[in-house]
Amino acid sequence: MKKSFIRKIAGDTDSVGSHKTIKLGNFRHDRNLEHGKEEWLTPPEIIRAFGPFDLDPCAPVKRPWATAVNHYTIEDDGLLRPWHGLVWCNPPYGPKTGDWLAKCAAHGNCLALVFARTETQAFQKWVWPFAKSLFFISGRLSFCHVSGDPGGTAGAPSVLIAYGDLADQRLRDNQIIAGQYLQSLPSKLIRLRLKNSNK
Ligand SMILES: C[S@@+](CC[C@H](N)C(=O)[O-])C[C@H]1O[C@@H](n2cnc3c(N)ncnc32)[C@H](O)[C@@H]1O
Repeated sequence: MKKSFIRKIAGDTDSVGSHKTIKLGNFRHDRNLEHGKEEWLTPPEIIRAFGPFDLDPCAPVKRPWATAVNHYTIEDDGLLRPWHGLVWCNPPYGPKTGDWLAKCAAHGNCLALVFARTETQAFQKWVWPFAKSLFFISGRLSFCHVSGDPGGTAGAPSVLIAYGDLADQRLRDNQIIAGQYLQSLPSKLIRLRLKNSNK
């Protein structure tokens, strides 16, 4: 297995904390000059390991490789368009990430890639209650520039989130990417069980 797109981290401290630490790390935001938006592309090894996907609803306008059979870009506004099939979603990072995770949860057939910031409101609201399983990637990813070249090492660890059975199957079938697979019992189910056990 090629590991160049993953950096091993031994006991560093900049992976925890506020969003500010992301900016202080060596994770560089790549500016799309046409749109002024940030572009952090998924390393192709990840797409190969967990794909194929039917749709990437948030793909770059100019992309060095396909991430799915169909792509929406910022010009389509993939948040507003209908989603179909198994979706790959490495969403725009920042305050809008929660909106994308909400749509992943509503679609229910999606593999999402975000920073493993389990403390954030977006994670609490749209990951734990809806995810079928999660895969915490070992080390840190090097996301790619729109040129296809690898960027700096991410300032935080990444997690893959499976919404639905098919995405969960992709995580369980993975024999390539190192990390920790965890089944998630959506917290709504836990609440329901607790409620029923009180009857
Ligand atoms: C973190 S990058 C991930 C790119 C790609 N999904 C991948 O996995 O490599 C987020 C992408 O979302 C795009 N984007 C931002 N807002 C969008 C929108 N409203 N609709 C569709 N794409 C959008 C950006 O241009 C950028 O390419």
